[in-house]
Amino acid sequence: MEELKRIEEIKKALNDHNYRYYVLESPVISDAEYDKLLRELQAIESANPELITPDSPTQRVGANPSSGFSEVKHTVPMLSLQNAFDDQEVRAFDKRVRERLDVDKVIYASEPKLDGVSVSLLYENGFLIRGATRGDGATGEDITQNVKTISMIPLKLQGNDFPPRLEVRGEVYMPLKGFFEYNKEASRRGEKVFVNPRNAASGSLRQLDSKITAKRPLEMFCYSTADVTPGYLKGSHSERLEQLKSWGFRVVEHRAVVEGAQGLINHYNQLAEMRPDLPYEIDGVVYKVDSIELQEKLGFVSRAPRWAIAHKFPAQEELTIVEDVEFQVGRTGALTPVARLKPVFVGGVTVSNATLHNIEETHRKDVRIGDTVIVRRAGDVIPEVVSSIIEKRIPGAKPVELPKECPVCGAAVVKAESEVVARCSGTLFCPAQIKEKIKHFVSRKAMDIDGMGGKIVEQLMVEGYIKEIPDIYSLEKLQIAGMERMGSKSAANLISAIEKSKKTTLEKFLYALGIPEVGEATARSLVSHFKTLQSIMDASEDKLMEVSDVGPIVARHIIGFFTQPHNHDLVEKLISFGISWSDKPETSGPQPLLGKKCVVTGTLGIMSRDEVKKRLADLGAQVTGSVSKKTDFVVVGDSPGSKYEKAVKLGVKIYDEAGLIELLEKV
Ligand code: IVH
Repeated sequence: MEELKRIEEIKKALNDHNYRYYVLESPVISDAEYDKLLRELQAIESANPELITPDSPTQRVGANPSSGFSEVKHTVPMLSLQNAFDDQEVRAFDKRVRERLDVDKVIYASEPKLDGVSVSLLYENGFLIRGATRGDGATGEDITQNVKTISMIPLKLQGNDFPPRLEVRGEVYMPLKGFFEYNKEASRRGEKVFVNPRNAASGSLRQLDSKITAKRPLEMFCYSTADVTPGYLKGSHSERLEQLKSWGFRVVEHRAVVEGAQGLINHYNQLAEMRPDLPYEIDGVVYKVDSIELQEKLGFVSRAPRWAIAHKFPAQEELTIVEDVEFQVGRTGALTPVARLKPVFVGGVTVSNATLHNIEETHRKDVRIGDTVIVRRAGDVIPEVVSSIIEKRIPGAKPVELPKECPVCGAAVVKAESEVVARCSGTLFCPAQIKEKIKHFVSRKAMDIDGMGGKIVEQLMVEGYIKEIPDIYSLEKLQIAGMERMGSKSAANLISAIEKSKKTTLEKFLYALGIPEVGEATARSLVSHFKTLQSIMDASEDKLMEVSDVGPIVARHIIGFFTQPHNHDLVEKLISFGISWSDKPETSGPQPLLGKKCVVTGTLGIMSRDEVKKRLADLGAQVTGSVSKKTDFVVVGDSPGSKYEKAVKLGVKIYDEAGLIELLEKV
């Protein structure tokens, strides 16, 4: 039957592409081509529903909601691990292992401990037949429909040397980016947000409606095998993971095979350093005796193996007490509630302040002064109060109230119904707002006054040397040199940095002014469109909205800013102090590719490479020499080489010459 043949062909192709994409990380087709194949498969299947099989990639979208999960008995129990919290405990673990085995040195497999939900996947004859949660270790829940929606979990295995029965275990998690995006969207819709990525993964996997699970950005790393037909697996844990990879599983990355306790500790330190940059959360490192024979000799003690241990990172969440809540005033007057905490050690640092974001969020979380709260610190971000522990609330815990007056300048606090943010109305005279405006003005992406950090700005304001932005340019060396922790040398450096900042670009100057909603990119677009400051200041709302990333709100902010006489004075004063830039020369036409980064590689037929580069640059694109994640597209001619490979690997959009010509005609 023609259809059956085509179905099998597409299923195989999609399965292979999935494997290349998720496991080998080197796709050979674009997303669009993948989607096209998937749509073709859907079309044939919907005309011939009897040909739909459970391993068809079309079955990943989720099934009808079920009324509950059925039980799954784990033939091999899903155990937990003992924990180690410092190097000494790791050395003690290694010593115990060596003594039991009566050997001098042990080889270990060491790998990140993923912070998600453990899941068991069962394959029979290469087909995924069941997915289960850990449950109590002996009995879990059948979540087959839900795991099938996770695109990196193979529905059918690769190759032909896999065991007829293969149970694989691993961790399902929500990557950080997906977690933040999900929460942002959920809070926009007024729905419940997840406290952390682990809860998000667990909540998503335990949905009775797998169509909901299908919409959640879940991923999986595999880290072990369990119930497997004997005779198929290799003799060490690390080799087994390689086998799993060859059969199509995404296996835990950044793993190592090391010798002895010192080898383990070194790997732990490496992972601790990588941790803030990883796109998912890990909460420690798991060490496993690599030889399966030795693992079997060591066996188990109560509910944990003797051959493995989890070396945990210092906790990133801790409990502490809110001693007070104060309001900080930002550059635009926004009042941010900040919890003053009983100092607590979280994720390697002592935290005594944590943001509560805004008053609405504070009320939603019902955080009160005196409450015991969970404080969280993730990577480099500002510590935040996650939630209150209501059960521990003391009588008299005081709800947080929005002050009626600005705590810094005393001006009235105003909050529009439609906004979550409350603001101080003392725009012009509130010292807190002025300080933040100055800090922004001198910052690197703005006027870039080297050496003028927040502390110095504060000192200069306290001394009364700076009251408003233009005062920066009448500072004198003697004034600065007289300040605490400032010598004559650093004063001279600061003066010369201030002088240097006078030669700037209009983009930077415009950004430095701190117009609400005008970030770097918008400033750049405005300048590229209007060319001169005068034309930006004169532009009407309609004219402003001709700029690609300016909508009505931004346009109104810009107009609002420039209609205020004191802002005109500010600009004039700054220019009179010698701040200058050269206005952009008129380019011949519009710049639809503004802000796009591109690379041109290989031999082109109709146009020369230089011609292509010039055309792209004239249209506003930034033509660069190397491909990175930030590249928007790559133009590829014949014999392209490594840049092409990199673009494919990173999933960057690729145009051949015909595609480029089409693009040039379209824009
Ligand atoms: S191996 C006998 N490897 O940690 C237990 N577990 O506390 C074998 N986990 O329930 C587990 N990353 O959910 C192993 N690379 C890793 C892991 C890992 C995370 C979780 C797993 C398990 C828990 C044990």
